[in-house]
Amino acid sequence: MSKEKILVIGANGQIGSVLTEALRAAFGTNNVIATDIRQVDGHDGPFELLNVLDRQAMGEIINRHGITQIYHLAAILSAKGEQNPLQTWDINMGGLFNVFEVARESGISKVFFPSSIAVFGADIPRQMTPQNAILKPTTVYGMSKASGELWSQYYFQKYGLDVRSLRYPGVIGWQSDPGGGTTDYAVDIYHYAVKGENYTCFLSENTALPMIYMADAIRATLELMEAPAQNIKERTSYNLAGMSFSPSEIAESIQAHFPSFEVSYAPDFRQKIADSWPESIDDNAARNDWHWQPNYDLARMTNDMIFQLQKKYSVLI
Ligand code: SER
Repeated sequence: MSKEKILVIGANGQIGSVLTEALRAAFGTNNVIATDIRQVDGHDGPFELLNVLDRQAMGEIINRHGITQIYHLAAILSAKGEQNPLQTWDINMGGLFNVFEVARESGISKVFFPSSIAVFGADIPRQMTPQNAILKPTTVYGMSKASGELWSQYYFQKYGLDVRSLRYPGVIGWQSDPGGGTTDYAVDIYHYAVKGENYTCFLSENTALPMIYMADAIRATLELMEAPAQNIKERTSYNLAGMSFSPSEIAESIQAHFPSFEVSYAPDFRQKIADSWPESIDDNAARNDWHWQPNYDLARMTNDMIFQLQKKYSVLI
């Protein structure tokens, strides 16, 4: 029986919903408490409403359930964040400070904080961007993640709080919908293809970005959190890579399954965000420190996405 009691904050989100299921499979359904600002159906396990800006409520839930670990997934993403920068900063930073403070006060053993490729901006090598490249993010989301990384390190160094973090690339999965990111097109495009519709992409055809399949992203998270503390040498956040591709490359991989599928391009404000990010990521630190190894390349991901979405849509019809 697991002695851990895990709190997932943002459990209805794109990553949070899949991570909650994976944690329940690993630690037992009742040992994982899902929380989100919105109630949704379909949680088979303990669920509580929680606004991340309510520190008192967060502390109360942690004490009542005897929580030992926190996965803090709630944040406003890169594209949506630009609509209301100050509110995005308040939610992303306020939520994180509440998690760190409550964790410190309640003697939480480990905290997971997701960072992002959005921490990078100008003056980096765009290909194979190194772990220690300079951080000059241009979005408020990226600024909040870069600051969050430093605060993660600060809480570790000053208070011994075992905060661990990954710089997720764009995450692609069939289980859940993305919300407000610049990489969302790479999920949407599969839904259109499987429904037999053509797709208009909001990034230009040659915009390569780092991406990762959901199965790999979840496994990376669990492996990072299970690694012995002395292996975690990056206390800001780890670069993490799965694959890298442009809209025209993902379109081609889908056309191998659906030859008549067509993609047109109508770049919008998200193009500028994508242009400021790396094209690919050097994740050697993760590979060396806790033996990270992705399983999915573009072709393998496309096979699985199409297979899973066809199943999903045939059940819905
Ligand atoms: N997928 C995220 C976004 O596009 C990156 O962290 O905002």
